[in-house]
Amino acid sequence: MSGKAHSLEWWKTGSVYQVYPRSFQDSDGDGIGDLAGIEQRLDYLAGLGVDAVWISPIYPSPMADFGYDITDYCDVDPMFGTLEDFDSLLAAAHARDLKILMDFVPGHTSLEHPWFAESRKSRKSARRDWYIWRDPGPDGGPPNNWISEFGGPAWTLDPATGQYYLHIFLTEQPSLNWRNPEVCEAMYGAMRFWFDRGVDGFRVDAVEHMVHDTQLRDNPPNPDWVPSMGPARSHIGRYSQHQPEVLEVVREMRRIAQSYPEEKLLIGEAYGTLDQFLAYYGAELSGFHLPFNFLLIGATWSARNIAGLVETYEAALPERAWPNWVLGNHDRARIASRIGPENARAAAVVLLTLRGTPTIYQGEELGMENVPIPPDRVMDPWEKNVPGEGLGRDPVRTPLAWDTGAGAGFTSGTPWLPIDDRPEMTVERQNADPDSMLSLYRALLALRRREPALAKGSYATLQVSEALFCYERRDNSDRIAVAINFSAERQTVPFEGDLLLSTETTGSGPDPDVLGSHGAAIYRLR
Ligand code: NOJ
Ligand code: MG
Repeated sequence: MSGKAHSLEWWKTGSVYQVYPRSFQDSDGDGIGDLAGIEQRLDYLAGLGVDAVWISPIYPSPMADFGYDITDYCDVDPMFGTLEDFDSLLAAAHARDLKILMDFVPGHTSLEHPWFAESRKSRKSARRDWYIWRDPGPDGGPPNNWISEFGGPAWTLDPATGQYYLHIFLTEQPSLNWRNPEVCEAMYGAMRFWFDRGVDGFRVDAVEHMVHDTQLRDNPPNPDWVPSMGPARSHIGRYSQHQPEVLEVVREMRRIAQSYPEEKLLIGEAYGTLDQFLAYYGAELSGFHLPFNFLLIGATWSARNIAGLVETYEAALPERAWPNWVLGNHDRARIASRIGPENARAAAVVLLTLRGTPTIYQGEELGMENVPIPPDRVMDPWEKNVPGEGLGRDPVRTPLAWDTGAGAGFTSGTPWLPIDDRPEMTVERQNADPDSMLSLYRALLALRRREPALAKGSYATLQVSEALFCYERRDNSDRIAVAINFSAERQTVPFEGDLLLSTETTGSGPDPDVLGSHGAAIYRLR
């Protein structure tokens, strides 16, 4: 039975794969991945067994924040290709039963967007109120104490009109004013532009930062702050983050998504407390289908901690809300580096057997690790603004290594970031190796498609100890159990079942009732 046969909507039983387009496949030798490159590799994604591909921004951009600074929401940057290339990719994906999700960046444009150029011209400009302008504070400095996510004040003075504009992220990313109905209409129009072209949904960027206190009050200090959290977290974003009006915008986005014959999927990116991000499901599930669940993305890898997070999330989910899980993305440390490569196989089992939609970040399926970036090759503005704190995201954005040839099969030119081209990190080698991480991901994704208990069954914890976390997924009388060993010692599996899948390598002659060091296994319960 294929995953498509389940009665639940595709995005519930399916899985999402995040493509970071600059680093997936280059087709024209400029060292930067592009749309034609993604199209060339669609068979790889279909063969992996994922259902939807979320592509980080490909819109025209000066690339101050690598595409998260947009000058036109309805076009493609020449670096990535053309609208025709996009249509071609979309058709080729659909022909393989793959959905395409775009990245929607509602909170800010590029400094070079024509809207901002017009807005900054004069205080009377027709688009002045499309952005957030304020007079200097009493001391001539910024209007309040807000700190940019990438360091420094969240305000920049524009000498032309003597006012400051708000930028929650870089100076080059002025924040849009979502309290202005014209802005809302323009942005909803951009969503429809892609939906009408056939795009299947959006991952919506940084929603918690979209709307701000009308009085722009100072944020209070964060008593728990440490520098590795980044300068912005030295404040609690009481007046700049998670304002209730965000949900009104999200609800309107959902109405638009629902107006299409096949409903479009909306995944929301919002970091925050459990209550804060769960709120984006909206009353009566009127918000995002899936507000990203980032509980695992920074979690300490211990049985009790992970079990606790899973139980807390399961218990807190609003009624009928569909869960989802994430181990990493283009902003966060690679999972294999964060918890150690020895745990990465078990983490894959967790991601792909918990209840809910998994999102795989490109390269996770190869066990990719953070790649050290020499100082002269740093690209990320965050690292440049706040050097040496480990905040820079280049190490997790390095190109995928396809083969052992020159440019790792990624590019015929010079890659924009260094490539980890160890042979064992290449798709070519891992394809041929039944014990590789890639083979494990394929087997897990195939198992999810085959087994309704994994795709849509209920969740229950079976056992938690210092070393073991075991849980059950159940669909009617069909029960599948998962056992994860968080320790380096061998552990006996505490239930009777028939082995369906194990992280043990084939050569080690696995004893089906024993988990090896950091191993994980999946059983059908008798
Ligand atoms: C979140 C994105 O994932 C990140 O890469 C980006 O820098 C910020 N939002 C700003 O758009
Ligand atoms: Mg290219």
